[in-house]
Amino acid sequence: MTLLVTGCAGFIGSNFVHTWLAGSDETLVNLDKLTYAGNLANLASLKDDARHVFVQGDIGDRELVAQLLATHKPRAVLNFAAESHVDRSIHGPGDFVQTNIVGTFNLLESVRGYWSALPAEQQTAFRFLHVSTDEVYGTLEANDPPFAETKNYEPNSPYSASKAASDHLVRAWHHTYGLPVLTTNCSNNYGPYHFPEKLIPLVIHNALAGKPLPIYGDGQQVRDWLYVEDHCRAIARVLADGRVGETYNIGGWNEKPNLEVVHTLCAVLDELQPRADGQPYASQITYVKDRPGHDRRYAIDARKIERDLGWKPQETFETGIRKTVQWYLSHQDWVEGVTSGNYRQWVGKQYG
Ligand code: NAD
Ligand code: TYD
Repeated sequence: MTLLVTGCAGFIGSNFVHTWLAGSDETLVNLDKLTYAGNLANLASLKDDARHVFVQGDIGDRELVAQLLATHKPRAVLNFAAESHVDRSIHGPGDFVQTNIVGTFNLLESVRGYWSALPAEQQTAFRFLHVSTDEVYGTLEANDPPFAETKNYEPNSPYSASKAASDHLVRAWHHTYGLPVLTTNCSNNYGPYHFPEKLIPLVIHNALAGKPLPIYGDGQQVRDWLYVEDHCRAIARVLADGRVGETYNIGGWNEKPNLEVVHTLCAVLDELQPRADGQPYASQITYVKDRPGHDRRYAIDARKIERDLGWKPQETFETGIRKTVQWYLSHQDWVEGVTSGNYRQWVGKQYG
């Protein structure tokens, strides 16, 4: 048995590969373009493991995808591949439209061609699982209920709009062509292999480098944080037992204002690796210009996946954050590898 997984040299995908192979011998064929966000160092420990087959390429390359499907005959395709960073989508939305919308469209078409030629029994068992985000639902006011699967889509950034479009395509390929799809909409993830352009790894990296910890606006925007391995376990549950055509919201009931997250990170760092001068890391906090169109609050109502599939997160925010900081402290070589070259150009563009 084989799964075709896309975008698994990135943050969540590489964690999915590690989590999956820790509990299964099913082969994963990993199609990844290796954009700035894709990094084979995330998968270095699998270099000699035949259960992981890496292929560099684009989800939008129909010929390549058709060839991979014909060769490996996967029982499912899991689509993690995307442009994923809101701030980059503001500077340059074109790549987001290309990969998240056009790329997903081409992938769906390649998969539909493969699936429609399968014998009936395999057609029924086949799944296309699309990994998406809570950001498609838009923003919440302080007293609004968290996002349920029935919430209407109101994306506000080029990133979330492109993800919303991809979710709609996936839905339509089920409704119109009968492709057996599943969609997951997860809240903000954190954990190992997180590229240091996103809040949590950026703050850990900057803190240790003695640089400012940039807080957009008033720092009171709320995100609902989930440890990445819990997300990966949820995806595995949805793949195994999710109802075809349905969407599942994934979240850990961990709403936190950004400023609180940064203070928590600083406190853990103060304990695990105190500054040489004895000053708290929180003294590096700096308020910077807000993100245009910044969504105020995201929150996930995870009752459906808990009730229907028996999934619950294993980590609390406190245990997950501590593990994450410890991982970064013991993987400074990985951080150095990903923060050279192009990364510096990005930091210059975004933070001046
Ligand atoms: P990431 O940016 O770390 O990784 C994306 C991966 O996709 C990279 O390895 C990149 O090389 C690859 N990729 C990009 N364009 C490609 C293309 N055209 N063809 C093949 N590969 C391509 O992203 P992530 O944080 O790991 O997110 C993975 C998925 O989960 C995305 O679909 C994202 O929208 C979704 N998601 C992310 C979060 C989060 O907090 N990071 C939360 C919910 C959902
Ligand atoms: P981010 O990690 O980019 O995820 P997303 O925008 O997808 O939620 O940002 C998380 C929150 O942190 C978001 O409200 C923006 C904020 N933020 C900062 O305040 N400073 C920063 O330097 C970054 C990267 C993000």
